Amino acid sequence: MADRPLIYVLNGPNLNLLGTREPAIYGHDTLDDIAGRLEDQALELGVEVDVRQSNHEGHLVDWLHEAHARGAKAVIINPAAYTHTSVALLDAVKAISVPVIELHLSNPNQRESFRHHSFVGQAATATIAGFGPMGYALALQAAVWL
Ligand code: DQA
Repeated sequence: MADRPLIYVLNGPNLNLLGTREPAIYGHDTLDDIAGRLEDQALELGVEVDVRQSNHEGHLVDWLHEAHARGAKAVIINPAAYTHTSVALLDAVKAISVPVIELHLSNPNQRESFRHHSFVGQAATATIAGFGPMGYALALQAAVWL
């Protein structure tokens, strides 16, 4: 069988604690729960997902470059707090030709003002926010149609 289109799902700092981290904001699902559902959904959609998490900005930059080098169809990224601070991630998104979907569990625009600005969002193809863990499923569905 031919290789299935590859979609990277990158997760930034503190998202390894999903499930116990501020559940009133981020929900009760762990990142493993989310990744498991994405794997099932990817099979149905005929794509392959590569789900990763790091607390380190440079890892996320390297993985964006890697997605480009491997000819990924799309990247879904929840940059977490680096959304609001990282020119390096913005530059990496600009540097690659892979479409990038920015994703947030919460709706940052309804939260503290420092979350209202997104560096990544300045270069992302689209942003999905505020749907909780279901946002990952919506982003994968959208990525397939990009
Ligand atoms: C987040 C929103 C960010 O503001 C925050 O720093 C996160 C998670 C979200 O998924 O809602 O860590 O990206």
